[in-house]
Amino acid sequence: MPRVALVTGGSRGIGAAISKALKAEGFGVAATYAGNDDAARAFTEETGIKTFKWDVASYEDCAKGIAQVEAELGPIDVLVNNAGITRDKPFHKMAPEDWNAVINTNLTGLFNMTHNVWGGMRERKFGRVINISSINGQKGQFAQANYSAAKAGDLGFTKALAQEGARAGITVNAVCPGYIATEMVMAVPEKVRNDVILPQIPVGRLGEPEEIARCVAFLASDDAGFITGSTISANGGQYMA
Ligand SMILES: NC(=O)c1ccc[n+]([C@@H]2O[C@H](COP(=O)([O-])OP(=O)(O)OC[C@H]3O[C@@H](n4cnc5c(N)ncnc54)[C@H](OP(=O)(O)O)[C@@H]3O)[C@@H](O)[C@H]2O)c1
Repeated sequence: MPRVALVTGGSRGIGAAISKALKAEGFGVAATYAGNDDAARAFTEETGIKTFKWDVASYEDCAKGIAQVEAELGPIDVLVNNAGITRDKPFHKMAPEDWNAVINTNLTGLFNMTHNVWGGMRERKFGRVINISSINGQKGQFAQANYSAAKAGDLGFTKALAQEGARAGITVNAVCPGYIATEMVMAVPEKVRNDVILPQIPVGRLGEPEEIARCVAFLASDDAGFITGSTISANGGQYMA
């Protein structure tokens, strides 16, 4: 039986690249998404990877969704917490809704997902939890008090849980991408990308989703069994944590 991997937000952007990379490594893969049915349908047609729709911000929906994935594919061995959103605003303009939406998806979503697979991983004495944080959780970013707080929280979550999982055969690690060429970043005006973002990146280009996916595939592999509580920074040298 192939190991089973679940990738949240696995139908688009970085998540789609992760889903494909894990499939190529021989995992049975489930990709979740929030609401973009057309993108999910196109992704399944292209890759043959099944998609499941629920909101990671809801604990109950995560419990139900994970039970459905496990009934169809088998117990989840690898969880990639990748789903994430931005609601960027300078702090003085940031509304409670902007704060709550980002914290509930990008931080509480990790609790909701991981809590619902943790018991099974402990029983089976194997698990890989890989959290997609961000360079902006490491260094902070103007107009992202909500996002930076959530992504920094993801790193604390990773390190605490790594200590709890170690004796149970579960590794917990994080990947911090820098600027990656996905819809999230391509939505930034081209002039801002060229004049503001690119000059900050020593390698002189945006990263590719596949470059993050390869980090995740490594952390999910047996070769990474001695690595836990770590953060891989993949940011073109923009920030050396
Ligand atoms: N792109 C970058 O440069 C960059 C840099 C650092 C970190 N990151 C992080 O990397 C991750 C992926 O980013 P991306 O750029 O690939 O994003 P993206 O292209 O916007 O894709 C986001 C994915 O997450 C799903 N999603 C969003 N909210 C969700 C929710 N509440 N419940 C379930 N799924 C949800 C989306 O589903 P729908 O398709 O249904 O909307 C989509 O599949 C995020 O955590 C992001 O913060 C990205």
